[in-house]
Amino acid sequence: MKGNKRPYIILSAAMTIDGKIASKTGDPDISDEEDWKSVHKLRTEVDAIMVGKGSIILDNPKLHIKYYDHKGYYRVVLDSNLSIPIESNVVNYKPETYPTIIVTTENAPVDKIREFGSKNVEIIKSGKGRRVDVVELMPILYDKGIKRILLEGGGNLNWSFIKNNLVDEIRIAIAPWMVGGKDAVSLVEGEGYAKMLESPRYCLSNVSSRNNYVTLNYKKEK
Ligand SMILES: NC(=O)c1ccc[n+]([C@@H]2O[C@H](COP(=O)([O-])OP(=O)(O)OC[C@H]3O[C@@H](n4cnc5c(N)ncnc54)[C@H](OP(=O)(O)O)[C@@H]3O)[C@@H](O)[C@H]2O)c1
Repeated sequence: MKGNKRPYIILSAAMTIDGKIASKTGDPDISDEEDWKSVHKLRTEVDAIMVGKGSIILDNPKLHIKYYDHKGYYRVVLDSNLSIPIESNVVNYKPETYPTIIVTTENAPVDKIREFGSKNVEIIKSGKGRRVDVVELMPILYDKGIKRILLEGGGNLNWSFIKNNLVDEIRIAIAPWMVGGKDAVSLVEGEGYAKMLESPRYCLSNVSSRNNYVTLNYKKEK
């Protein structure tokens, strides 16, 4: 039986003043060079970076580190039916430094599991439902030695973690734009809480600003 310990989760994102993490057409260009540097610094301090399938399909990120020396970490992608393209950077870019785990469900097609397996991607199944069960996943990752995760979204994956009260720390860079758009992805999507008092509450631990960017750090209220 798996233990009930779970990794410490740090949610990191750059958003516009109005809380969007991309424009309505999916333009993700919110961070400036300084912000990327501080995100990459954070990446040096964790055992894994986690993203949702939507971010892989829209942005095709490498999820690597550019500005610092480091030993690497896991890239963890949540993809319930194993439908990201096999050509994705997360599969092909420096797998020896950043081994990739795709977390899927019991419903994932066997031929896809074989296809990704041939690229040395590790497949973990978590849950029998339509989507990956993030609660069930936590002790599985912990038992693999993943004790700290940088959760880099997008908005739908962020909601799954917020809904299950799994986010321990938040690091948000607010960038100087108001982009609007009901179809532009917000920091946290999903159905949301009905009441403030039901939702997880955080304590502000740091604020810094430079060049019209504000960075906010929050920690979960004990
Ligand atoms: N500014 C920033 O810091 C930042 C950071 C990251 C992303 N982004 C932006 O965010 C956008 C993508 O966000 P998104 O909300 O569309 O996609 P997302 O959160 O990256 O991925 C959501 C997808 O992940 C899969 N998934 C599997 N298990 C899940 C679970 N338990 N909970 C939620 N999702 C699960 C689902 O697809 P299946 O059901 O098929 O598995 C779901 O549609 C992009 O435009 C990207 O540029 C911005």
